[in-house]
Amino acid sequence: MRAYVLLVASVAALGGLLFGYDTGVISGAILFITKDFALPTRLQAFTISVVLIGCMLGAVTAGAIADRIGRRATLLAAGLVFLVGSVISALTPSEIVLLAGRFIVGIGIGFSSVVAPLYISEVAPAPSRGALVSLYQFAITVGILAAYVIDYALAGGGAWRWMLGLAVIPSLILIFGMLVMPESPRYLFKIAMGDRARAELLRIYDDPAASEREAESIAESLRAKSAGFEVFRNPQVRVALFVGVSLAVLQQITGINTVIYYGPQIFEMAGLGSASTSILAQTLVGSVNCALTLVAILFVDRIGRKPLLYVGLSGMFVALSALALAFAQAHLSGSLSTIALVSMMLYVGCFAFSLGPIVWLLISEIFPLPARGLGMSLSTLANWVGNFLVSQFFLTMIERLGRPVTFGIYAVLCIVTILFVRAMVPETKQELLEEIRVWPA
Ligand code: BGC
Repeated sequence: MRAYVLLVASVAALGGLLFGYDTGVISGAILFITKDFALPTRLQAFTISVVLIGCMLGAVTAGAIADRIGRRATLLAAGLVFLVGSVISALTPSEIVLLAGRFIVGIGIGFSSVVAPLYISEVAPAPSRGALVSLYQFAITVGILAAYVIDYALAGGGAWRWMLGLAVIPSLILIFGMLVMPESPRYLFKIAMGDRARAELLRIYDDPAASEREAESIAESLRAKSAGFEVFRNPQVRVALFVGVSLAVLQQITGINTVIYYGPQIFEMAGLGSASTSILAQTLVGSVNCALTLVAILFVDRIGRKPLLYVGLSGMFVALSALALAFAQAHLSGSLSTIALVSMMLYVGCFAFSLGPIVWLLISEIFPLPARGLGMSLSTLANWVGNFLVSQFFLTMIERLGRPVTFGIYAVLCIVTILFVRAMVPETKQELLEEIRVWPA
């Protein structure tokens, strides 16, 4: 992999770091915000979820913006939005201004969750595209882990303003970084700047024959002219949209964010003693999530997307079933607690090298260029809606259906996902973006 491409992908991946940090940080900060502003329970829940509403708005608009002003400028805008949102949240004089700050941060997350993987997959050479987009997921997991650690470190002084404000640092790096990064060659072709696009491809491949081959296939893919939502007249695009939206939703409804957002509560349910042990266990979850994402980076371009998905989803199924069975016992202690803990680690670890990175990768790959911005926007919107629903209703599900049934449902959904991948998802390993066809698979 060329250092140049790695650098470009790493700067864009900062969008993922901010995504992870800003979704993770609130869990620790909320305890102190509640105290300072004397929040009633309802406002507490809203302070947590308002960011997700911003994410939806950011995601649904990002594709059209990226098609109009370019991938690079949209990521730059995401950095600015993160900066403004973080400063407002950290310096807020009141709860209402805090809500506005967190909503703005959400828009930044929504933007970057569409445009960072889109941009990376468009600048990546085909043989390392999987690894480079997985780098974005790796950055998400680093962000989540950093949030847990920083929350833990600053909890003693109740420094919630610092917890929220520290996001300013990666925001600034993203902004300055994107100022000097190149535009995606595919976008340059789209706006008829073929010469610059060719020069950019040459920098990416450092091989005139390979870059010319890619230039040809991009130019070919742009021959069918269509604009805006017209692209969805094409049956290929409609199937891609179905696959993209389904994968994005399945990534969420198999339950990952119950563990990422409510880990400490689940650990307490599993009889793991004090709140501080639970928070420590959560840091372990964050580390496993981070470490196992490296497996995807190493293997996704060699073994392929689908085999990793099968292995990961099977592991998630086993882990969730074990968790459901453990929770079927009246009281968890001793070895049952250990089984619950190990199951949760196994679940997160298996997600980390499969459904986590590969969903972002596939939705950045399956749309033909004219539909890529919009297709990614809609799939990502579906991801955030799924995220919102699962995180809003998880505690209610536990209360109404019980723990074994709740985790049992997530387990069954892993099997549904395996069947969906088998039937509908094409293997995209090593293929040029323009050669990927969703249907027939
Ligand atoms: C998902 C997030 C999740 C994260 C966990 C991402 O791929 O989209 O919802 O919190 O992985 O690492």
